[in-house]
Amino acid sequence: MNEHYEKLMKCFDCIQKKVTFKPELALILGSGLGDYADTMEVAETLDYHDIEGFPVSTVPGHKGRFVFGYAGGVPIVTMQGRVHYYEGYAPQDVVLPVRLMKLMGAKTLFLTNAAGGINRSFNAGDFMLITDHISMAVPSPLIGDNIDELGVRFPDMSEVYSRRLRKIIENSAVTAGVPLRKGVYLQTTGPQYETPAEIRAYERLGADAVGMSTAIEATAARHAGMEICGISCISNLAAGISANPLTHAEVQETADRVAPLFKKLVTQAIVDIHNA
Ligand code: HPA
Repeated sequence: MNEHYEKLMKCFDCIQKKVTFKPELALILGSGLGDYADTMEVAETLDYHDIEGFPVSTVPGHKGRFVFGYAGGVPIVTMQGRVHYYEGYAPQDVVLPVRLMKLMGAKTLFLTNAAGGINRSFNAGDFMLITDHISMAVPSPLIGDNIDELGVRFPDMSEVYSRRLRKIIENSAVTAGVPLRKGVYLQTTGPQYETPAEIRAYERLGADAVGMSTAIEATAARHAGMEICGISCISNLAAGISANPLTHAEVQETADRVAPLFKKLVTQAIVDIHNA
C-alpha cells in the first residue's frame, strides 16, 4: 500500500474509535482566527496529540485540535491550529488533516487565512474571497505514488474555488453586512515575509494577497473531490506596499480586531452553503 495512504488510514482508524460526529463541512482557521470555535456549539474535540502519526503544529497562537460541533446549526469540523509547510513537515503531511476531514464525511472545505494585501486597493482588515490561487515554489502535496482511493493522478485545477460556493458567499456577505473583496491568493513557503521585490513580482503575476498556507490544502482537497471555498483576512499590507516592517504581532492584532466580523461572515456563509 502507498505509504501516505497507510498513514492516513491509520490516523482515520484512530479517529473513528474516538469520535462519532459526522461533519458536513470542514473549516480551517487561519492565524489569529482560531477562536472561531468559541462561537460553535461544541459536540466533541480531539487533540492532534491523541491521533497516532498526526503532524502537530508549533506556531504560537495555534491550538492543535479538531473541534466537532455546530455552526449556525450546521455540523462541521474545524481545525484549531493547522500544519504549515514552513514548520518542516513533508507536503503530504501538511495535507493529511484535510484528507482526514474528507474521510470523516466533510464534502465541503472552507479555508481561511491571514494574508498580506498586494492589491493596492486593499486595506488591513479587509476580507477577500479567494477566486483562485498561485502556488509559489511550494511542492505539490500530490507528488509520489498517487493515492487512487482519493483521486486521479492528474487532477484538473481549473476551478479549485467553486464558482457555486463563491456566488453563495458573495450573497452571505451582503446578508451579513460585511464588505468582501475578491482576488487571487499566492502561497509562498515562508516562514520569512516577502521582500518588496518579491511582492512587485507577485503583483505582476496576478496575485492580490500573499500568505503561507491554503493553496497546498486546496490542491489536496480538489484532488480528493471536495468542493472548496476560501476567505483571506488581509491582516497587513504586503512588504513594500506598506512602509512598515511586518510582524507576526501585527498580523494577529488585525485578525483579533476583525474577528467578530469574520465570525459573522463565516457563520452566515456556512448556513447559506448548507441551505443551498
Ligand atoms: N506575507 C506572507 N504571509 C502573511 C502575510 C504577509 O504579508 N500576512 C499574513 N500572512
